[in-house]
Amino acid sequence: MHQLANAGNVRACVDQPAEWQVCKLGGIGEGGMYGLLNAALKEFVVSTYGNDSWQRVAETSAPGIVSFNKMAPYPDALTYAMVTRACEVLGESFETVMFGFGEFWVRYTDQQGYGPLFEIAGDSLRDFLLNLDALHVRVGRSFPKLEPPSFRFETVDGRTLRMHYLTRRKDLCPMIPGILHGLSLRFKTALEVTQDTCARKGAAHCEFVLVFPEACA
Ligand code: HEM
Repeated sequence: MHQLANAGNVRACVDQPAEWQVCKLGGIGEGGMYGLLNAALKEFVVSTYGNDSWQRVAETSAPGIVSFNKMAPYPDALTYAMVTRACEVLGESFETVMFGFGEFWVRYTDQQGYGPLFEIAGDSLRDFLLNLDALHVRVGRSFPKLEPPSFRFETVDGRTLRMHYLTRRKDLCPMIPGILHGLSLRFKTALEVTQDTCARKGAAHCEFVLVFPEACA
C-alpha cells in the first residue's frame, strides 16, 4: 500500500485550490495535463463509484469546475489533487484507484473517438505496445502542447519484453498495469505484468516485465 510520495504537498494543494499553479509537487513537471485526462478521471469516478462520490472528490480538489475542457491543459497539480482526494473519499489505495483509472482510460479514449488510433497502431497487443510512442505522436497533432510519456522496449526472450516508462511526471506509474490490463482485454491477449523498478522508490525510471502467451512469441 503506497500513498503518493508527496501526498503532504498534494493535500496542501487541496486546501488551497486557487494555488494549483504554484503548488510544489516535488519532482512533478512544470507543464500541464490536457483536460481529456481529467475528464476521464471524473467519468471513471462517476461511472464506478457514483456521482455523489465525484461531488465529494471535486468539492475540495476541483472546486468550481463543472466540466473539463478536454482540449485545454490544466496544471498537473490539479490531477494529483483529484486522485489524492479520490483515494480518501473512496477509501481505496492509490494503486487501486490508478489501476481502475488506467483500465478505464483504454475504454474512454476509444469512446471519445480515438478508437481508430488503436486500430492503426497495431494488429496485435505486442505490435501495439511497440507503437505507443508513434500513437502519442499522432495524438499530439490534436493536442499541440502534449507532453506524452515514452515507452522503450527490450526483448528479453521470445515471450518477454522489458518496458521502460519514461516521463517527466512522477507517481503515475500505477496507472500502467491498469492500462495494460485494459489493452489485454481489448486485444483478447493474456499478459503477465510485473513491475521491476519504480521511480517512486528511487529508480531512475519505472520498468515493467511483460510476458505474452506462447502463441504470441
Ligand atoms: C488513442 C488513445 C490515447 C490517447 C488519445 C492518449 C492521450 C493522452 C493525453 C491527452 C495525455 C495527457 C498528457 C498531456 O496532457 O501532456 C496522455 C497521458 C498519458 N498516456 Fe496516453 N493516450 C492514449 C493511449 C495511451 C495508451 C495506450 C497508453 C499506454 C500505456 C498511454 C499512456 C499514457 C500515460 C501513462 C499518460 C500519463 C502522462 C505521463 O505518463 O507523463 N496512453 N495520453
